[in-house]
Amino acid sequence: STGAFTYDPGFTSTGSCESEITYIDGDKGVLLHRGYPIDQLAEHGDFLETCYLLLYGELPTSAQKADFDNRVTRHTMLHEQMARFFTGFRRDAHPMAIVCGVVGALSAFYHNSTDISDPHQRMVASLRMIAKLPTIAAMALKYSIGQPFVYPRNDLDYAANFLHMCFAVPCEEYKINPVLARAMDRIFILHADHEQNASTSTVRLAGSSGANPFACIAAGIACLWGPAHGGANEAALNMLSEIGSVENIPTYVARAKDKDDPFRLMGFGHRVYKNYDPRAKIMQKTCHEVLGELGITDDPMLEVAMELENIALTDEYFIEKKLYPNIDFYSGITLKALGFAPNMFTVLFALARTVGWIAQWKEMVEDPQQRIGRPRQLYTGHTQRDYVPMSRRK
Ligand code: SDX
Repeated sequence: STGAFTYDPGFTSTGSCESEITYIDGDKGVLLHRGYPIDQLAEHGDFLETCYLLLYGELPTSAQKADFDNRVTRHTMLHEQMARFFTGFRRDAHPMAIVCGVVGALSAFYHNSTDISDPHQRMVASLRMIAKLPTIAAMALKYSIGQPFVYPRNDLDYAANFLHMCFAVPCEEYKINPVLARAMDRIFILHADHEQNASTSTVRLAGSSGANPFACIAAGIACLWGPAHGGANEAALNMLSEIGSVENIPTYVARAKDKDDPFRLMGFGHRVYKNYDPRAKIMQKTCHEVLGELGITDDPMLEVAMELENIALTDEYFIEKKLYPNIDFYSGITLKALGFAPNMFTVLFALARTVGWIAQWKEMVEDPQQRIGRPRQLYTGHTQRDYVPMSRRK
């Protein structure tokens, strides 16, 4: 028989944490970064402005923004030897596997920014990752499709530079579409930070042991990959593709409601939002903008997505469970229209979330009270018992 030991609630050292960075009101569908609403940041600013805000706590002045942009731009190249790291992977490796491995390996190349007790090294490591994740993500994409790597360009802004590294080829000039670059930048803003989600908690727990920042961010990337978390954007697009047409929606809605069926509507529901995810609204608007700019007027998956949303929002099951579309519901359609294969969607999420992970890691590391995280448990196993010699085992 098993007896549970008394559970001491005092040991919930990582059950929750204090933070000044992001506030979510799940019932009202509110998301603030350092007090600023996500819709205002997405409307008026760019991704590097949001990065500055998350890291330093205030919106930058014009001079501060220019300096920050320049410092990030000057860190976008990767150590040339790291290019060989990519060629060790199979061509059909999932880009998330490549990005997770390469980011973890950064600590093997940038020894002068791994001492977390040194504020300067902490900031250099932070800048390096914000700057290099687009380069690493684009290299993972190029490697997976067998095209040559494209170097970053200092004359392009963050999102345009990323699109150029992803889609330019040596044979012809790649023209930056400013509408699509602006949409990409806004998508990065929407994914930048989100309080203590699973991957951020992973980064905090890894960082609480004193591990180097590159290893901590690699841990966050690994956690984000799961389909219940950041992998939901790829899963949502695959689900919409499997549903295929509006006529098939009722079958899948019924499956999502069936307790005995593990199927869930990908891109729906959230542990915190019990109202509409404010990011999903902005993502849907961005989706229409991108499809409009590209002249795509009859995307069958958008039609399925919008009808699925209409049905789910009027269905008593989803109303009762307070299930609304989350950020991952429309992002897949948008990213596919921008030219990304589904296996790159979570990589883009990780690229954008890197600044949130870093800001949360930095807040924790710089807290003089912080201690190593050590979750406790409610033990439900055997009480103590004596060893049984092999001869007496049945
Ligand atoms: C992200 O934490 C974050 O902030 C994450 C994130 C971020 O920015 O970091 O916002 C990004 O991860 C968004 C979520 C992406 N995941 C998906 O879209 C996958 C599909 N969604 C579900 O797996 C689910 O909604 C979760 C994982 C998102 C939340 O899981 P919970 O907390 O277990 O779900 P819940 O408590 O809200 O569920 C309440 C009920 C449950 O039923 P009961 O056990 O009460 O009977 O609703 C059901 C769930 O079974 N339910 C669903 C459902 N989501 C929840 N039923 C059908 N389809 C769904 N999508």
